Amino acid sequence: MAKLLFIQASPRTIGSQSQKIAEIYLDTLCTQIPKLEVDTLDLRKEDLPAFDGDKVAAKMNLMTGKVHDADQQIAWDRIVEVASRFISADRYLFSVPMWNGGIPYRLKQYIDIIHQPGLTFGLNPESGYIGLLKNKHATLVLTSGAFAQNRPAPAFGVDHHSTYLRSWLNQAGVSAIDELRFQPSLVTPDPAGEFERAKQEAGRLALTHWRALTGSGGKLQ
Ligand SMILES: Cc1cc2nc3c(=O)[nH]c(=O)nc-3n(C[C@H](O)[C@H](O)[C@H](O)COP(=O)(O)O)c2cc1C
Repeated sequence: MAKLLFIQASPRTIGSQSQKIAEIYLDTLCTQIPKLEVDTLDLRKEDLPAFDGDKVAAKMNLMTGKVHDADQQIAWDRIVEVASRFISADRYLFSVPMWNGGIPYRLKQYIDIIHQPGLTFGLNPESGYIGLLKNKHATLVLTSGAFAQNRPAPAFGVDHHSTYLRSWLNQAGVSAIDELRFQPSLVTPDPAGEFERAKQEAGRLALTHWRALTGSGGKLQ
């Protein structure tokens, strides 16, 4: 059975709106597909190694064709361990608030650890990056207090949030991406009503995904 990795990026310990919307999506999907294997990665609690020193050196060794020394090999093995959990999933569900125009720092740290040559990407000097992940799907739940796509920029902020996530996923080979947006979550006349609408949309998208999956012979893709 396919595996879905749910990556929770809001550092709020209670009341994360992006996480709530993602949970409704996931609950609906799991109701339809009880055998779906779900792995939850709570970035608030996850013991993420610092990406520095020997880990950076190991990455640069791979980029420049050099051999790891013993400490760099240990550092690289730890990177592979963290990245393998990500690579092993078939589907991704990200709950991600906008932070200062971009993504929360714990998610950026996670991406810096797992996005590695030979694991998620290759680099051809003539043609550029090659995504190594195949047949994956990502659902992004995106929240922001003031920013919205239909609001004037830069007055209400500039989107380095969805654009960054999409370009990173594309570079890793994930091009099938759907979005659920609750934007703006604060600077709007009816935040509670908009939140309800976003939750309903999450349930609808889960059913759309379930139908698409079962429409293809019940095979998750
Ligand atoms: C540190 C921090 C930075 C934020 N930066 C932005 C921002 O740049 N633009 C914006 O529209 N909202 C910003 N917000 C508001 C959140 O994106 C918004 O409240 C969102 O709904 C929170 O989602 P969550 O409940 O899942 O954490 C920021 C909030 C925090 C705590």
